[in-house]
Amino acid sequence: MKLLVTGGAGYIGSVCAARLLEAGNEVVVLDDLSTGYADAVPAGASLVQRRVHDVAGVLDPSFDAVLHFAGKSLVAESVARPELYWDNNVVGTLALLAAMRDHDVRKLVFSSSAATYGESAQDPITEESPTDPVNPYGVSKLTIDRMIGAECIAHGLAAMSLRYFNVGGAYGRYGERHVPETHLVPALLKVAAGRAERASVFGTDYPTRDGTAVRDYLHIVDLAEAHLAAVGALRPGVHRVVNLGSGTGYSVKEVIDAVRRVTGHPVPADELPRRAGDPPVLVAGNARAAEVLGWSPVRDLDAIVRDTWAFFQDGDSL
Ligand code: UFG
Repeated sequence: MKLLVTGGAGYIGSVCAARLLEAGNEVVVLDDLSTGYADAVPAGASLVQRRVHDVAGVLDPSFDAVLHFAGKSLVAESVARPELYWDNNVVGTLALLAAMRDHDVRKLVFSSSAATYGESAQDPITEESPTDPVNPYGVSKLTIDRMIGAECIAHGLAAMSLRYFNVGGAYGRYGERHVPETHLVPALLKVAAGRAERASVFGTDYPTRDGTAVRDYLHIVDLAEAHLAAVGALRPGVHRVVNLGSGTGYSVKEVIDAVRRVTGHPVPADELPRRAGDPPVLVAGNARAAEVLGWSPVRDLDAIVRDTWAFFQDGDSL
């Protein structure tokens, strides 16, 4: 298949582009390199450097499907500058849907997020759980999910919104290079590597087994396999929403233990107040992913830590 991968120079997009190429597809990456890296685009893919808003000149009827990863994805930034999220995420996707309609490209896989559920009281969270996002990032993802749903009904698009939980790990030379890096696993590895003095535990008074927040960590390679399956499972006029998570939750303290165990290094940590907007528990119910995609993850938290550690050491990226 000939595929357009928006955001293919970013962390998740580049790993998915690499796996799609290895599966025998032709891949064109569209990325404005605002947060991505040209050297993250897999060698077999071509790179078109431009915004999603300007996708019209890139798409043509020879494309079979689009995988849409491009977008802003920092919760705190979305609170401080929501306009970036309406423009990049919502308006950018509106342009993409128009171009797909104009060029008769009728299959779409979209990177949605667990942030669409907000502070869900449910554990695990299923696709039937209420959506009530608590920040502009989550609102932008939920808005796009709804735009795509309406597009399927009105114009026969075949689409899936994949709602990611906490993605981590690396795939060989492809990994996480966020600036700033706010995610837990890379932040802890920085301390294990001696490049930061102490880690931070945000909140020790959550109603969880050890008082720290619980998240569902999914390996990036398992996530990429789900995207391969999703492209093959699209049906005209149907929009499926599918959670992608491991189905298992780990507390911040448990993740720190995993980093100590896997790296063999100490990780001194300070206990700090909660970070604004962080829900206590986010764990995916992944029964629908198994049913719709025939997929379930096979890599655990230790593999996420091990592969991220190897990526950082090879690429000197911390
Ligand atoms: N945390 C720490 N110390 C750190 C970093 C994080 O204690 O140095 C805690 C956070 O408070 C949170 C957990 O570790 O409880 C995980 O935090 P991350 O920043 O790694 O991930 P989030 O759960 O905040 O965010 C992820 C994705 C977002 C997505 C969100 C959905 O990265 O893109 O899940 O809720 F929006």
